[in-house]
Amino acid sequence: MRMIVRGARLLHTSGLSEPSGLSDVEVGEDGRIARVIPYDDQKEPPATGILIEAHGGLLTAPFVEPHIHLDTALTAGEPRPNTSGTLWEGIACWSERKRTLTREDVIARATEVLRWQAAHGVLHVRTHCDVTDPSLTALDALLEVRDRVRDVMNLQIVAFPQEGIVSFPDGEALLREAVARGADVVGAIPHFEDTREDGVASLRTAFALAEEHGLRVDAHCDEIDDEQSRFVEVLATLALRSGLRERATASHTTAMGSYNGAYSFKLQRLLSRSGINLVANPFANLNLQGRFDAYPKRRGLTQVREMLAAGVNVAFGHDDVMDPWNALGTANPLQTALVGLYAAQLTGADDIPVAFSMVTDRAARVLGLDADEYGITAGAPASFVLLPAPSPEEALRRQVRPRYVVSRGSVLAETPPAPTRLSWPGEPPSDVDFARRLR
Ligand code: FE2
Repeated sequence: MRMIVRGARLLHTSGLSEPSGLSDVEVGEDGRIARVIPYDDQKEPPATGILIEAHGGLLTAPFVEPHIHLDTALTAGEPRPNTSGTLWEGIACWSERKRTLTREDVIARATEVLRWQAAHGVLHVRTHCDVTDPSLTALDALLEVRDRVRDVMNLQIVAFPQEGIVSFPDGEALLREAVARGADVVGAIPHFEDTREDGVASLRTAFALAEEHGLRVDAHCDEIDDEQSRFVEVLATLALRSGLRERATASHTTAMGSYNGAYSFKLQRLLSRSGINLVANPFANLNLQGRFDAYPKRRGLTQVREMLAAGVNVAFGHDDVMDPWNALGTANPLQTALVGLYAAQLTGADDIPVAFSMVTDRAARVLGLDADEYGITAGAPASFVLLPAPSPEEALRRQVRPRYVVSRGSVLAETPPAPTRLSWPGEPPSDVDFARRLR
C-alpha cells in the first residue's frame, strides 16, 4: 500500500448528497485507489506507506477549473490599466500587451498560476488561449506547459479567437492552425464579431472544425448585456444537430440575464434538450457587466438557478487572474464558488452543496472527465483533496485551504494548520476556533 487516508468524510460523486460516515481510502502502488472501506478507529494503521489522518475532514475529488485564461494572467496594468473597467477596453489593453509576448513570458506566468491552482487543489484545468495572434506565441508556450505539468495536472487548451474568427484578419486560418498544433478545444466569440451573420458563421466554423478533428467546443457566448445577443440558441442548436451535445459549452452567456420571460422559457427547453454545458464566471461577470447601465444596474450573470432547474449542467469558472479584465484574482475555486453562490443567490440549504459541485463534478462534466478518471472510487486515479472542514458548506463559509492535495497517489501540496492566537480581555490567550459553534 502506497498511502492510506484514514477517517475522511466522502462526498458522493453527485456532489448533492449529505457527506457519509467516515471512510478510509487505500491507495495502491500504481497510484490508483485500491479500495474505500468504512473507518474503524480500533484498527491499527498500516506500518508502511504514507499515512494521512483526516480527522473527519471532507475528502473530495479535485477541484476542476472549467474556464481560465493562463495566457493573459498576471498582466494587469501592462501596458496600461483598464480604466473604464469594461470588457471592451480590456480587449484593447490585451491587444497591445499581446504584441510583446514571448515564450518565456507566457510560460512563467502560466506556470505561476498553475502552481497556485495546484496548492488550491485544482488538478484539472481548461484554459482559453488567444489565437488571434499571427505568431501563436501564447499557444505554443501553453502547449509546452501542458506537457510539463502532465504528470500531476490535466490541462485542456481552448483555441480562443479573442478578436474574432470572421472579423479578425485570417481568424479562421489561425484557428485551424491552432487546432493543427494541438489545441484540445475549439473556441469562438460570436457576440464580438462585426455582425449577427458573422457571429452565426463563426459558430458554424467552430463546430465544423471540432467535428473534423473530434474535439469539443467552448465559446465565449453572449458576454454582453445586450438582450438581443442570442447566439446561445445557435450554439445549442448546432450542438444538438451535430450530435456534439455535452461536448459543447457556452461560457458567460451574460445576456441571458436580460432576456424576457417568454424567450427564457423557450431557451431553457432548448438548452436542456441540447445537453450543452454553461459556465458562469462570477468575478468577470460581476466586474464587467452592467458598466453601461444607470440604475437599476444588472447583476451581470447568466440564469444560473433557472438553468440548473431546467436540468442544464452549469459550472463556475474563475476566468481572469490579475489581467486587464480583473486586477485581482487568486485562482482559488472555493472563492469562485462563494462569490458565485451569492451572485446567483444559491444560498438556500440545498443550494450551497450545488455551488460546491459547480467547481467539482459539474465542472468535471464540462471538461468531459469520465467516472473512471474523476471521483473517489476503487480503480480511479488517487487524486483528491482533503479539506479541514466536515462539509461543503463549512469549506465555503470558512474558505479553507486544502490540508493535502494528492495527485495520482503522491502528495502534491500540504498546508499545515495555522492557528490564530487571540488575547481576549479577561481570558488567557487562546486559539480562535472559527468552526466552534457549527456542526
Ligand atoms: Fe473568459
